[in-house]
Amino acid sequence: MRIGVLGTGVVGQTLGSGLVGLGHEVILGARDANNPKAVEWAAGAGERASTGTFADAAEFAELIVLATLWEGTENALSLAGHDRFAGKTVIDTTNPLVFGDAVPSLALGWNDSAGEQVQRWLPDAQVVKAFNIVGAPHMVHPALPGGSPDMFIAGDDETAKAAVTDILTAFGWSTIDIGGIAGSRLLEPLCILWVLYGAQTGTWNHAFKLLR
Ligand SMILES: NC(=O)c1ccc[n+]([C@@H]2O[C@H](COP(=O)([O-])OP(=O)(O)OC[C@H]3O[C@@H](n4cnc5c(N)ncnc54)[C@H](OP(=O)(O)O)[C@@H]3O)[C@@H](O)[C@H]2O)c1
Repeated sequence: MRIGVLGTGVVGQTLGSGLVGLGHEVILGARDANNPKAVEWAAGAGERASTGTFADAAEFAELIVLATLWEGTENALSLAGHDRFAGKTVIDTTNPLVFGDAVPSLALGWNDSAGEQVQRWLPDAQVVKAFNIVGAPHMVHPALPGGSPDMFIAGDDETAKAAVTDILTAFGWSTIDIGGIAGSRLLEPLCILWVLYGAQTGTWNHAFKLLR
């Protein structure tokens, strides 16, 4: 599949490399086509990896991964061009974080979420919240001493969620679909819980699992 990853941070690079490893063609997009982090990533990620602008990545893609700083996300989507998302599955990894204290807080929540805001910005795309509840080093082939963790996902479109579940399965996740994109209201605070536990214990080797 042709995949556009919007974001050159640790999440974009990690998922980009993981997706290349699954055999997909990936463009890592940034504001600047010559973004040094993206160029360095592409140089080491193999022949199916390349870089471009946010618009290049979105245009190329059959499926898009959104991995931008929350406060830059609206701008990144505008730069990419909203029309380029029409009819496509968009994996939203973002968390609407406000930094300042030791543990970040959420810029919105309870009765709204970043996932819903992204879906409103991209009404013709099928947005699926995923990957936001765990640190980037565990997103691809998570290997934790306590066993295989679960990834919770949320989105309004069943076909899009099936496509995202296929990717998660290939990465070694068990996926739990919690329903529509409004479920992002529950998943984004889980990121804060993940960070809080890490800050309190000084360990970052954890993820969530639903025991039955
Ligand atoms: N880090 C983690 O472990 C983790 C885990 C789960 C979820 N998340 C979430 O995943 C997302 C990505 O996190 P990250 O740590 O990989 O990277 P990040 O530092 O949060 O974001 C980097 C990307 O944001 C873009 N960006 C920043 N300001 C922008 C602006 N004003 N306009 C347009 N684009 C802008 C940058 O574009 P340029 O490349 O052009 O500079 C870069 O591609 C975040 O929403 C984060 O909360 C992170």
